[in-house]
Amino acid sequence: MKMIWRWRWVVVVTSVFVGCGASEEPLVYRIAFGSCANQSAPQPIWNAITDFDPQIFIWMGDNIYGDVRRPMKLFGKERTIGPWKNVPRFIPSSEHEMQVRYDKAKSNYGYSHLRENAKVIGTWDDHDYGLNDAGKEFDGKVTSQRLLLDFLDEPQDSSRRKQAGVYASYTFGPVGRQVKVILLDTRYHRDPLFSDGSILGNSQWAWLEKELNGPASAITIIGSSIQVISNLSATTGPLFYMESWGRFPKERNRLFKLIADSKRDGIFFISGDVHFGEITRCDCVTGYPLYDITSSGLTQAVEQAVPPPLHFLVRFISWLTPSSMRVMDKSCRYRSCTYGQPNFGVIEINWKATPVSVKFEVRDANGLPVTSVNTTLLELQAKRIDSKATMKAGEHQKYCSFEVNLPWIVRYRLLLFFLCALAALLLALIGAIYVVTSLCMKYLLKCKLD
Ligand SMILES: *[C@@H]1O[C@H](CO)[C@@H](O)[C@H](O)[C@H]1NC(C)=O
Ligand SMILES: *[C@@H]1O[C@H](CO)[C@@H](O)[C@H](O)[C@H]1NC(C)=O
Ligand SMILES: *[C@@H]1O[C@H](CO)[C@@H](O)[C@H](O)[C@H]1NC(C)=O
Repeated sequence: MKMIWRWRWVVVVTSVFVGCGASEEPLVYRIAFGSCANQSAPQPIWNAITDFDPQIFIWMGDNIYGDVRRPMKLFGKERTIGPWKNVPRFIPSSEHEMQVRYDKAKSNYGYSHLRENAKVIGTWDDHDYGLNDAGKEFDGKVTSQRLLLDFLDEPQDSSRRKQAGVYASYTFGPVGRQVKVILLDTRYHRDPLFSDGSILGNSQWAWLEKELNGPASAITIIGSSIQVISNLSATTGPLFYMESWGRFPKERNRLFKLIADSKRDGIFFISGDVHFGEITRCDCVTGYPLYDITSSGLTQAVEQAVPPPLHFLVRFISWLTPSSMRVMDKSCRYRSCTYGQPNFGVIEINWKATPVSVKFEVRDANGLPVTSVNTTLLELQAKRIDSKATMKAGEHQKYCSFEVNLPWIVRYRLLLFFLCALAALLLALIGAIYVVTSLCMKYLLKCKLD
C-alpha cells in the first residue's frame, strides 16, 4: 500500500509540473487531520483514524510536546504562576531531547500503520516549534524546522528546508476536481501576543497571496494551527486567553480581505491548538460561509484536566461560554457543540453527488461524529452570494456578528458565573464560620452555667 500511494503521489507531482496526464490522478475524497499529540501518552485514537482510512492525514501542530512544562507553583522560591511568578512555566528542551521525542512519536504503532497507507503532511504549533506560545523571538526555530521536516519525511533537497518557516502547499487530484491544501506557519514570523502585529510575516504573506490567486481548485483547505474564525478570548477574558487569529485583528482582516479579493471558491479552514473540537463559521467575509473545523487534540483534551466525575463541569462551562461563530446543531453529542475528549477531524467529499457534497466532522476516539456539518461546493461559491437557495437570511446574520459585539451580559457570562460562584463560596465560608463560632459559644456558655 505504501508503495502504491508513494507512486500515486509521484504521478500527482509530476503531472502538476508537466500539466498533463491529469485523468490518471486519483480523486481525493477522504482526508483526516489532528493536533496535540503527547508522544509519551498512549495514543489509541490512531485505530479510529486508520479505520476511517484517509488518503491524506494532516498534522495541525503540537505533533509532539517538545518543551518542558514545570509544575504549577503559586508559592515558594520558584513560582511558575500568579502575578508574582518569577520563573517561566515552560522552557525549551535540547535538540537531542526533541529528536528523542520525535522518534518516539514516529515509532508509535498506530501512527506507523497510518503512514503506510496515507500521505502525511503537516505544520507545527507552539509545543513542537519548541516553546509554549512562542513566536518569532524563539531562537531554537531553525533547529526545530529541520526536526519537523525530518519527522514529515520532507526530501533533503526540498525548498521547504531552505525557506524561513514551514509553510507549504499541495495540490491533489485530477484537474477540475483538485483539492489544494495550504499549510500556514503561525510561529516562525509571529510578533508577540498583544502586539496586534503580524502572524505570517512578509515573505509568507507574499507566498500566500500567490497561492490564493493561482490556478483554481475545487476545494482549498487552509490549515492554521491556531483558530481563525473563533475568538474565544473575547468571552473567556479576562479569566484566561487563548491564542487565535482573533487576537491579531489587523492580521485577521488582512487574511479575510485577501481571501475575498481572490474570489476563490471552496475555501475553508482547519485548525487545532485549543484541546477541544468544534466547527465555526463566518458568513461575512467571502460571500459564502467560511468554515473553520477545529480538532484538538489527539491525546490532549480539556476534560482530562479534571477527574471524570467533574467532566460535567467542563461541559457546563463550555456550554456557558458564549460563541457567536460556533455551528450549533441538534446532532452534536453535547449541547455546547464542543467536544473535550480526544478527537480527530474528517473531511469527506462526495464527487458523485450533484452538487458535489462535502462533510466536515469532528470524531471521537471510537470514530463516531461529535459535531458535523454537511455542505456542498455550490454553497461555497462566491458568486452564489445572494442566492436564496443557499443562504437563509437569519442564519447569515447569526454568523456575522463577532464575539466582541455580543451584549456585555452575554459576553461576560463566564466571568459573571465565576464571580457569583466565588461570592457564593465566600458566603458559605462566612456562614460556616458563623455557625461554628456560635455553636462553640453556646457550648462554652453551657459549660460555665453547669
Ligand atoms: C505526556 O504524557 C506523559 C505520560 O502520561 C505525562 O507524564 C506528561 O506530563 C504528558 N505531557 C503533557 C504535556 O501533557
Ligand atoms: C478578539 O478578542 C480579543 C480579546 O477580547 C480582542 O482584543 C480582539 O479585538 C478580538 N478580535 C476580533 C477580531 O474581534
Ligand atoms: C450529515 O449527513 C449525514 C448523512 O450523510 C447525517 O447522518 C448527519 O446527521 C448530517 N449532519 C448534519 C449536521 O446535518
